[in-house]
Amino acid sequence: MRPRRFTATGPLMGRIRVPGDKSISHRSIMLGALAVGETRVTGLLEGEDVLSTAAAMRAMGATIERDADGTWHVHGVGVGGLLNPREALDMGNSGTSTRLLMGLVASHPITATFIGDASLSKRPMGRVIDPLSQMGATFTAAPGGRLPLTLQGIHPAVPIRYRLPVASAQVKSAVLLAGLNTPGVTTVIEPVPTRDHSERMLKGFGADLQVEVEADGTRVIRLTGEAELKPQVIDVPGDPSSAAFFVVAALIVPGSDLVVENVGLNPTRAALFDVLRQMGGSIEELDRRDVGGEPVADLRVRASALTGIVVDPAVVPSMVDEFPVLFVAAALAQGSTVTTGIEELRVKESDRIAVMRAALELAGARVTETEDGLIIDGTGGEPLPGTDDGAAVATHLDHRIAMSMAVAGLASRRGVEVDDTRPIATSFPVFENLLETATTAATGTA
Ligand code: S3P
Repeated sequence: MRPRRFTATGPLMGRIRVPGDKSISHRSIMLGALAVGETRVTGLLEGEDVLSTAAAMRAMGATIERDADGTWHVHGVGVGGLLNPREALDMGNSGTSTRLLMGLVASHPITATFIGDASLSKRPMGRVIDPLSQMGATFTAAPGGRLPLTLQGIHPAVPIRYRLPVASAQVKSAVLLAGLNTPGVTTVIEPVPTRDHSERMLKGFGADLQVEVEADGTRVIRLTGEAELKPQVIDVPGDPSSAAFFVVAALIVPGSDLVVENVGLNPTRAALFDVLRQMGGSIEELDRRDVGGEPVADLRVRASALTGIVVDPAVVPSMVDEFPVLFVAAALAQGSTVTTGIEELRVKESDRIAVMRAALELAGARVTETEDGLIIDGTGGEPLPGTDDGAAVATHLDHRIAMSMAVAGLASRRGVEVDDTRPIATSFPVFENLLETATTAATGTA
């Protein structure tokens, strides 16, 4: 455990640049590892989750190296060329690595065992086991369809037509990735759109993938296998989910005026910024551009008086990872913020509904938990009381709980004690350094 007390340090000023997008980083390593030839990746997120993906792809035959200048070189084995890993694949804390790699393994004639940390070992894998079993893969898993899990892939697998029972980009991606080495058309039907990085990148690597949008917004994604992927040069845009912590911090700490550079604004990811604007947040887009086939801008954020709102459940998939930090913004807003339809948060790295309720209450916020959301009565801009001496927020191995409550600490009287900051390294290893940069820029001591 590495505890730390996050305290009010004054306004966030200057410019910071967020690291690469986690979802895009995972996918660039995986697809690079399946192309024949060298894929070069810049801006890759070097967090523990992405490193778990890289280690697994190496264990299955790819060559993956990092230059001194931070460029990653991936030499792939070709679709169909994955090898039996000699040891269990350690996925650490990463649900994305686990579920997407299960898809890849499922249509190769290999066997892989997946293991992970205490948080990952509690998370449901049945949602990927179901469609991949329909394709012909076989599984032995811990009770409840959990890790440790052994997957025996099959070739040729059976192409399926699969309607997603949960709005999950991970399940969608697992089926599409399995479809790469499956002869015929694999179809995923997505009633509620989720992040579309897999579709964008599969097309970029030359896969035959088509997306049809029906009148009611349902997306039908068809991938024709067996695919041949061509190596790419990829510049990974900055992660909006990481930017979110600094955007909220700058909104709630009085006097802040911060530019967060290089923020990916793919519409399937960026709903938090719209919700914060609806609450009265001043978030301005500067220099909108394209990076790696994704829209990107720098965001100028100024401290703002926020007002509570009822969050439209339709936006949940486009900000599914941002609710913990939205709750912190809500705790400082005037009036109440109501969130519904977020039951998926209960099966993330922790039960983010229950864990954030407990954490915010410990810091003195007024919170009510419902089955599928939280209702938060804000302070109207007054700082939160903070945690008492000897009391610490329990992060439950969840990076986003740790960072959200660090942000709450910046807008508190006594500070907020977080029990363990180590999980932050899974997605945002430079978070604490950037916090230092942004909070010392005002005094010129950076
Ligand atoms: C991710 C999808 C989301 C998200 C996760 C990353 C991805 O999970 O929570 O952090 O890269 O596909 P679900 O698809 O399970 O909602």
